[in-house]
Amino acid sequence: MKQFVSVPFEEMSLSRSDTSKAGKAEKPPWYRRPGLIATGAVFAVVGGVYVVAMPFVTPAFRRICLPFVPATDQQVKNVFKLLQGRKGSLVDLGSGDGRLVFEAAKQGFHSTGYELNLWLVWYSKMAARRRGLHKMASFYRRDLWKTDLSNYDQVVIFGVTQMMEPLKDKLSNELKVGGQVVACRFPFTDLTPIAAIEEGIDSAWLYDRTSFQPAEKHSKS
Ligand SMILES: C[S@@+](CC[C@H](N)C(=O)[O-])C[C@H]1O[C@@H](n2cnc3c(N)ncnc32)[C@H](O)[C@@H]1O
Repeated sequence: MKQFVSVPFEEMSLSRSDTSKAGKAEKPPWYRRPGLIATGAVFAVVGGVYVVAMPFVTPAFRRICLPFVPATDQQVKNVFKLLQGRKGSLVDLGSGDGRLVFEAAKQGFHSTGYELNLWLVWYSKMAARRRGLHKMASFYRRDLWKTDLSNYDQVVIFGVTQMMEPLKDKLSNELKVGGQVVACRFPFTDLTPIAAIEEGIDSAWLYDRTSFQPAEKHSKS
């Protein structure tokens, strides 16, 4: 015979708070804290933007501000018009997205790009692989001021006015015998180029070692 135990009604039924506790317990912890999730998402997005944008912003805080401004197609053509008939190695100082280095590699130069912005270096390396140019085009995250330029037959610089004087001094010491330099958009103001293409922002100037000799040595030679 079945036995019935009498349970008071209050104990049998779940109170409102018990029901909600039971419901909450089944939900994952993040579901209960939408504010926390939203804050986390905002921090993640802002942090991500910061990490990606910083290498593009930091040039503004350097002694010489050299921002990423890619060469125009005409500028690239002018560089290689000036280097027609040349071969060997080429370095682009501040290689940006690698466009000059890629064109140099296509034209048979053993090409190197030095660039401070790690995203641009990473992008250039990927692009070199994608284009099948990675055997001729190398990219390094390196400060152009701390790089020895004495191994390169061609040095290309698309710089800014403020850097041309210190770069002139560096090249005077380091440019190898027979080496040539192409300056894009901003020339070495007190040097005499051996050739030039003057087309506004697409202008380019070609210099060799004699251009970098001090004036008195230059006139004696
Ligand atoms: C005007 S852009 C030229 C980009 C590329 N050469 C072109 O012609 O398309 C200059 C580049 O130099 C890089 N840069 C600035 N300071 C540098 C440094 N100290 N060493 C190496 N690269 C630097 C910048 O990040 C930028 O990508």
